[in-house]
Amino acid sequence: MQPLQLHKASAATEANGGEAELRAFFVACQRSAKALLHGEVNPLDLLFPGGDWSVAEALYEHNPISRHVNALAASLVGDWASATVGPLRVLEIGAGIGSATAALLPVLPVDRTRYLFTDVSAFFHPGARRKFAAFPFVQYGVLDALRDPLAQGFLPESFDLIVAANVMHNAADPAAALARLRPLLADGGRLVLIEATRNTRAHAVSVGFIEGLSGVTDGDDGPFLPLPRWLDALDKAGFADAAASRFRRGWHRFRPRHHRRPRAAA
Ligand SMILES: C[S@@+](CC[C@H](N)C(=O)[O-])C[C@H]1O[C@@H](n2cnc3c(N)ncnc32)[C@H](O)[C@@H]1O
Repeated sequence: MQPLQLHKASAATEANGGEAELRAFFVACQRSAKALLHGEVNPLDLLFPGGDWSVAEALYEHNPISRHVNALAASLVGDWASATVGPLRVLEIGAGIGSATAALLPVLPVDRTRYLFTDVSAFFHPGARRKFAAFPFVQYGVLDALRDPLAQGFLPESFDLIVAANVMHNAADPAAALARLRPLLADGGRLVLIEATRNTRAHAVSVGFIEGLSGVTDGDDGPFLPLPRWLDALDKAGFADAAASRFRRGWHRFRPRHHRRPRAAA
């Protein structure tokens, strides 16, 4: 694996970080705290006020941490794409508002990439189609990351790269959920996993109210596992040879061990 190109990533942290949207979001969460606790306010209405994506994009895409992490992933994926000959079949899981997608698409070759953007429903498809209209190699699909992909019509060994950004923490049993993804990867396939590994008060009083997070039981004090537990989950799922990139004790990505001959340069 190529060393991380931090200089590429750091440039991405210099732009506007969505501060105004984030401030408004946390103020709204604070004002609605009692109603959120009583289930009288849908936290998604605060995250997507009037259906608008700008708060969510500030939270997952425009703030400096997200920019940095997504740029690191883009650096890794760009190196992988350059070192890999032939078609690149990419599956993104839980793509949502496409924060990681926005960083990754520009580093993939137009002429030999097929990028399947999926989420648990088609809810995000219209917005994502508009956002990624400039990338003709993107296709849109539905995949529930917590159920067996093969039972949902996906074929074994049909992808060279799986991207899962801020979604696998929804699994009550991350090892089992990761193990179900593994058969989708072809020989030499890679997994890029982006996850928070600390449970913060800011999460607890905001997006922590979203059902997918509050239903999780496999965490000490919240849904985000510390690094050793992610590594353990990956190991149990058959992924190893994991390269973890640590950012402020928070974010990591990995590649799998189970394929004999990695297609990308190691
Ligand atoms: C925190 S958002 C992250 C979105 C995007 N990956 C990003 O980093 O901006 C989590 C996403 O996971 C999706 N999601 C939740 N449960 C899921 C499941 N069981 N299968 C697939 N996607 C799921 C949500 O719909 C949402 O789009």
